[in-house]
Amino acid sequence: MKKVFVAGGTGFIGPYIIEEFLTRGFEVNVLVRHPSRKDRLPSGARPLLGDPLRPGPWQEVCFSSQVVINLVGANIFSRWTPAYKRLIRETRVQATKQIVVALREGAVLLNASAVGFYGADRGEEEVTEEASPGKDFLAEVCQAWEREALEGEKRGARVCLMRFGIVLGRDGGALKKMLLPFRLGLGGPLGSGNQWFPWIHIKDLCRAASFLAENDALSGPFNFVSPGIVRQKEFVKALARVLRRPAIFPVPGFILKLFFGELAALFLGGVKARPQRLLEHKFRFQFPEIEEALKDLLKKSPEKR
Ligand SMILES: NC(=O)c1ccc[n+]([C@@H]2O[C@H](COP(=O)([O-])OP(=O)(O)OC[C@H]3O[C@@H](n4cnc5c(N)ncnc54)[C@H](OP(=O)(O)O)[C@@H]3O)[C@@H](O)[C@H]2O)c1
Repeated sequence: MKKVFVAGGTGFIGPYIIEEFLTRGFEVNVLVRHPSRKDRLPSGARPLLGDPLRPGPWQEVCFSSQVVINLVGANIFSRWTPAYKRLIRETRVQATKQIVVALREGAVLLNASAVGFYGADRGEEEVTEEASPGKDFLAEVCQAWEREALEGEKRGARVCLMRFGIVLGRDGGALKKMLLPFRLGLGGPLGSGNQWFPWIHIKDLCRAASFLAENDALSGPFNFVSPGIVRQKEFVKALARVLRRPAIFPVPGFILKLFFGELAALFLGGVKARPQRLLEHKFRFQFPEIEEALKDLLKKSPEKR
């Protein structure tokens, strides 16, 4: 049986990806840094205690795996003090370094990254994987993170860089944060709402990850965003329609800046990212349209994960 090793699998995206590979018949070992986080894992996954930022016995399990998935990173939704910014960067770069030294020849590394690679705001430019990197803090973090992952090629591994857009899933991430104000009828666009909103349905993210794992010819960066990109105000309208609630309360930019400081740039800017390489390689999105994606995510009697 093929073995998958996952680091950073105890957060929002991890359990969905783990489930995807379990369903496809893989043995899935997951690095867990606190025993209490084992409860987050789908049944069938094998937890393994250890710290991804430090060498440890977990690296032997990583070395014995054909597929390695790295999702480690301190959550960016916190106040960006200088110390927290260091943590955002170091958790990503250090974990990737420790994973890369434990890659075997012929393995594939699927490494998380973000469309933040291109910078928080690219205006109206259509951004494919060939676009130049941005210059802001997150763009620089993504570049350092990707550089470290690409070191895996020197060990004979195939490296795929998953540049995630805004991941929409039921159990966490951006959608969960937005639901309460919308359900209370207090939703609305952020700033002007004209900024591009590069979203992806979590099911398509998981399917695209296994597509990359199973296609030996594929490597390098891939934009993990839906081809049906919308502006933030269109996303808000679709969400309001699906929830049957109004969305008439815009959140002014200065309020976001007051509450979130530097992080506000992420909500007020946008990247019109296109999944050029996934489309070129004939990956088929199950949810290319925002309204269908939201209907699926918010349906009343949800199937389990
Ligand atoms: N969600 C999105 O929309 C999105 C968009 C673009 C990029 N991404 C990137 O994709 C990756 C996964 O996203 P996610 O939403 O699943 O993130 P998440 O819910 O915040 O989970 C992050 C994972 O990293 C681990 N981690 C956090 N701080 C750590 C530390 N100090 N030392 C070691 N491990 C640490 C967490 O472990 P614990 O469970 O033990 O805390 C968890 O397993 C992240 O790197 C994120 O930046 C996500």
